[in-house]
Amino acid sequence: MISFLLNDEITTIDQARADMTLLEYLREQKKLTGTKEGCASGDCGACTVVLAEVNHRDITALNKLEYRAINSCVTFLSALHGKQLITVEHLPDAKVLHPVQQSLVEHHGSQCGFCTPGFIMSMFALYQQTAQPDRESVIQALSGNLCRCTGYRPIIDATLSVCQNKQADKFKQAETQTAKRLNEINNKVISTDNLLVPTSRQELAAAKAKYPQANVFAGSTDLALQVTQQLKSFEKLIALSAMPDLNQLVEQEHGLLIGAALPFGKIESTLLKHFPALSELLWRFAATPIRNQASLGGNVANGSPIGDMPPVLLALNAVIHVDNGAQKRTIAANNFFLDYRKTALEAAEWIEAIFIPYTHHTNLVRAYKVSKRYEDDISAVCAVFNLQVTNGKVHNIYSGFGGVAAIPATVLELNTQLKGKTWSSSETFNIGKNILKQAFTPLDDVRASKIYRINMLTNLWKRFWLETNQSSQKIATRVVHIPASTEEIPHA
Ligand SMILES: Cc1cc2nc3c(=O)[nH]c(=O)nc-3n(C[C@H](O)[C@H](O)[C@H](O)COP(=O)(O)OP(=O)(O)OC[C@H]3O[C@@H](n4cnc5c(N)ncnc54)[C@H](O)[C@@H]3O)c2cc1C
Ligand code: FES
Ligand code: FES
Repeated sequence: MISFLLNDEITTIDQARADMTLLEYLREQKKLTGTKEGCASGDCGACTVVLAEVNHRDITALNKLEYRAINSCVTFLSALHGKQLITVEHLPDAKVLHPVQQSLVEHHGSQCGFCTPGFIMSMFALYQQTAQPDRESVIQALSGNLCRCTGYRPIIDATLSVCQNKQADKFKQAETQTAKRLNEINNKVISTDNLLVPTSRQELAAAKAKYPQANVFAGSTDLALQVTQQLKSFEKLIALSAMPDLNQLVEQEHGLLIGAALPFGKIESTLLKHFPALSELLWRFAATPIRNQASLGGNVANGSPIGDMPPVLLALNAVIHVDNGAQKRTIAANNFFLDYRKTALEAAEWIEAIFIPYTHHTNLVRAYKVSKRYEDDISAVCAVFNLQVTNGKVHNIYSGFGGVAAIPATVLELNTQLKGKTWSSSETFNIGKNILKQAFTPLDDVRASKIYRINMLTNLWKRFWLETNQSSQKIATRVVHIPASTEEIPHA
């Protein structure tokens, strides 16, 4: 049984298809057609809705709500349990538009209007969640929404303007009451015949043993694509959302232990506190609404050769914690990816958490992603380096690469061949370049050709070597610049 607030109405669904998407539910069953369907694959933002939930991680905030925009097309219905689902129909107060809607009108931020409800919901989440967002935060918040006619500047201006002049809207006024209603819902158990929601490792092991064909899922941003794009159906599914060990984030003495089912949106700030070098890669991982759902465990279990986090985990010597209910074990990231989409995970096992050891403050870590689009795009090539230099000589160099082989891979030879060499010497650079040139035989595909991928790999190596040797000539990391005003747009 799933219980949630649909806008401000308590709603209970006793039985539903386990693989029903939230978008299908809204449009087909509730006829709330303000939420649009564009791509049905998480890429366009037309289906954006907002989930509000009580912040249970902070006991001082039990009457406060956290708001996050998500893509309803790649989210299974079960994600709603215990939360408030806010759709675009609910934003106006009686007949008065919500301030974000009014601002979009005043800034001429809509033409055909198909993308508009999605933009409004992303704007609304930012309005609720961030005190004084700057231009960069606005761009991040809107990174998952595409508009094919208006152009982004008026939409960005509308968002900045409304967030600078916030008013206490009806959501703020009802916050304590809404949190109270959600806290009451949260006490109920929700497993149904088709959707199993275990709350302990024993229950999860039993569910997997009883239904060996049933997939587990966390954010469903990968799994739901099989429903919407490949038209598969999953009769039974096992949600990981209520598993305590999979939903905790612990800053341990020697490293960060990240629960496998936690969405990136909830781990980002802690991850970046310890590994600031990952910021660009993380911001370029999909877009905000996907990161609000997608988990690190899902990214790793997926075993995709173009996933962005496996190269990070390889370069940072992470350890995957797995469990089968009776026994836990750890697997070094380096031994986890075995073959194309095949991992060391056994059928009865699941990923419980990922441990990333802290790097020494002198380590030079860089993570590079090359993709066709700056945001919301899968990597053509991803390269991560973790270098330790002592007295000018290479002490260790660990690496992780994506997009260049059937699995995310490390190149151990970089470490064995370069250990003890002077990092700043061009000989060291050339040895590394030759190793990387021969390390992989990538495939040609729609994203990039084999030659392009090899060239990218050696170019990223050069960039890393230059950046870490000539800090004053650091190569620009942010390549996108959106003009702040029409005056900034160069005229021919
Ligand atoms: C529009 C869009 C953009 C994307 N952009 C990127 C990108 O830039 N970079 C990138 O790397 N990926 C990207 N992805 C892919 C996806 O978002 C990530 O792989 C994400 O981390 C998957 O997490 P999830 O929780 O949604 O996984 P789910 O869909 O819930 O699960 C994925 C798979 O992992 C299994 N699984 C999940 N959790 C566990 C667990 N704890 N133990 C064992 N098995 C488990 C599931 O059974 C399933 O097979 C994108 C996806 C979309 C739709
Ligand atoms: S319909 Fe395009 S992101 Fe959902
Ligand atoms: S207004 Fe037409 S797609 Fe954005």
